[in-house]
Amino acid sequence: MKEIKEITLEKLEPEKFIKQKVDYIASVVGDNYAINALSGGVDSAVVTMLGHRALGERLKTFIIENGIMREGEVEHIASLFRKLGVPVEVIDAKKEFFEALKGKTDPEEKRNAITETFYKKVFGKIVKESGAKYLLQGTNYTDVEETVAGVKRQHNILEQLGIDTEKEYGYKVLEPVIQLRKTGIRKVGEALGLPEEIYNRMAFPGPALAARIIGEVTPEKVETVRQATNIVERELADTSAFIYMAILHENNVTGMRNGKRDFGQHIQVRCWDSEDAVIGRPTRLSWDTLVRLGDRITSEVPGVVSVTYNIAKKPPSTMEAI
Ligand code: XMP
Repeated sequence: MKEIKEITLEKLEPEKFIKQKVDYIASVVGDNYAINALSGGVDSAVVTMLGHRALGERLKTFIIENGIMREGEVEHIASLFRKLGVPVEVIDAKKEFFEALKGKTDPEEKRNAITETFYKKVFGKIVKESGAKYLLQGTNYTDVEETVAGVKRQHNILEQLGIDTEKEYGYKVLEPVIQLRKTGIRKVGEALGLPEEIYNRMAFPGPALAARIIGEVTPEKVETVRQATNIVERELADTSAFIYMAILHENNVTGMRNGKRDFGQHIQVRCWDSEDAVIGRPTRLSWDTLVRLGDRITSEVPGVVSVTYNIAKKPPSTMEAI
């Protein structure tokens, strides 16, 4: 693994960091084009702004509609960045992602299918068509650490796993925030003038809602977990938790509706307190909140008959389910 030196929060000087990275991107890319994918998460948002400052129109920013994002997310992020003066193009790749996920149940195979579809199929094509030589991406220090430690493969880790992106995918990858952890990236986002909604945005995994479906990912299951996610995010927005989510279990369970058996789906709610995502504890939610979550999810999300709250810590759990 190539040595990467962490910049701790105490050592981070956001303005200085921004200047260094803008200069770095400008000098490496030179007169070429670069492209990047914006998901709306703080990491890719910061990278988009750094790239935009460094390259202006020579940065092409894409939002990949992979079919596994949250409700309204793609449209919202696209319009927000357009308002900030960053041109973004939305690419509809739902078909490609669902095809790649079809029949896969193993967590690592699912992650791998998403990675391959993203980098090879969708981005490989965009890069070829755009003539860009560089891809900017928001890999952070924790992504590298967890992947190298073998906890789980973060979708954006390539070079650290010995993948030669130029040979495999036809472009070089630049990772301007790789020395920072999330809190540092949030500070840089604030200094870059991003809206608070973005720089304080709750973490969301690269494999998106697919990380919250145990077993095969299908458009129907994504819709179920998307609706449950919407309820959980609204109901828990006032907590100061690190992250909260809905997870869809693989096996159905017996429930009842109108006096008859309803063999339906099971949603697990997780809400984590954490400083740095490395360790986590379930948030002590009030009983009223839990009951409201149960009532809303079972009545508003079609097919769900069971809702549980996770009480395990990380470790041995991880925050996401795959
Ligand atoms: P885990 O599940 O690893 O989650 O305990 C810790 C934090 O990382 C996020 N996460 C990811 N973020 N790509 C990402 O960009 C991923 O593949 C990924 N997996 C988990 C998770 O949402 C949590 O904030």
